[in-house]
Amino acid sequence: MSKNIDHNPTHYDVCIVGAGASGLMCAIEAARRGRRVLIMERADKAAKKILISGGGRCNFTNLNTSPDNFISDNPHFCKSALARYSPWDFIQLLDNANLSWNEKAKGQLFCDQKAPAIAQLLLDLCDTLGVTIKYSLHIENIHYSDDRYHIKTSHTSYQAQSFVVACGGPSIPKMGATDFALTIATQFKQANRSFIAALVPFTANHQQTIFNKLSGISLPVSIHCNNMTFTDQLLITHRGFSGPAVLQISSYWKAGNKVTLNLLPHLELTTWLIEQQDKHPLLSLYNTLNKILPKRLSHNITHGLIENSKLNQLNEKAIKQIAAQLHHFTLVPTGTEGFRTAEVSTGGVSTSAISSKTFESLTQPQLYFIGESIDVTGQLGGYNFQWAWASGWCAGQYA
Ligand code: FDA
Repeated sequence: MSKNIDHNPTHYDVCIVGAGASGLMCAIEAARRGRRVLIMERADKAAKKILISGGGRCNFTNLNTSPDNFISDNPHFCKSALARYSPWDFIQLLDNANLSWNEKAKGQLFCDQKAPAIAQLLLDLCDTLGVTIKYSLHIENIHYSDDRYHIKTSHTSYQAQSFVVACGGPSIPKMGATDFALTIATQFKQANRSFIAALVPFTANHQQTIFNKLSGISLPVSIHCNNMTFTDQLLITHRGFSGPAVLQISSYWKAGNKVTLNLLPHLELTTWLIEQQDKHPLLSLYNTLNKILPKRLSHNITHGLIENSKLNQLNEKAIKQIAAQLHHFTLVPTGTEGFRTAEVSTGGVSTSAISSKTFESLTQPQLYFIGESIDVTGQLGGYNFQWAWASGWCAGQYA
């Protein structure tokens, strides 16, 4: 603990904005070093996104985490933190608290005791280490003078040597999410770019789409856009397209881009149809496709084409045409559902003026940015929490 700051209840060593995943982790680590830590939280409780994550079971990390799972203007920035704080470090934290976990597909880890147990674990550690958390605080202004930050809130004014921005991104504003990180970055002349909704459903113009009336259908697809491909479930909704495949690709999509869907990613359709032609020559194309696609979907795709054709009426060209249609189905989303439903956001405070080791600004002393506030965004699957833990842990060693 610093010598020049006494136990005045408005004077701290470290002030962290945001009691979310990265802020709580940073607070724990800074407090372990003996720093007096204050967290300022705008909402009436901590860790709201942890509580709703993973359908209430919190996909808290991914065993396959690598820098390739992150989107950033600087893809190298995340490497150091991810190497220093790995998924196994967070698993150790859970093990120490007798919390257990299970692995779903693709290295995704979920907490057996559900999301509230993870939030409580972090809050208990903060409590044990003497971290102060103030809720429902509105920060009115911040200034830096005499080697410390002066933070004026709606209640009181506070001072701290280090100021850590851990207030995430603006997705799900009704839970209290804001883009306050950009306001602070701009004030302290840190380069930044607007947040964009990511891991978010697409909207579609139903008048123009073949998927009209298909709401509720779910099927495995490969989805492709901007040199990225994901194979996962697609869900057709009354507003457009959702499901893990769509959420993944949405982070790479830009307005106006086409998205290509392979509706039968695990089958080579030309070969399969030729086999079916030999086995069931009198079966209709529609009934044949029903074996491998949801009925409503095969009806809409073959409708008006050759739906009632018997397989023995199809020549090679027609079979290839059908296969091309199902393997390379294109759609142009009209947009996304935006921050209202997005799980995360791309963009944020530029990594160009932040140390990848300490997370301190390279230009403004003792100012730190961590978690989703930075221009580093994970894919779906537990990567975003791993980034929050790793960046929070690193900053906590220095703040
Ligand atoms: P986080 O958003 O956790 O915390 C920011 C905190 O700052 C909040 O408490 C907020 O209230 C506070 N704040 C905001 N503005 C403020 C201000 N002006 N003043 C003071 N406080 C302020 N990720 C994953 O890896 N696995 C998963 O299963 C899921 N599931 C999931 C579901 C849903 C519905 C959402 C919306 C998101 C997820 N995520 C996820 C993403 C994950 O929740 C997210 O990436 C992390 O919580 C980001 O951690 P941060 O600490 O950066 O921000």
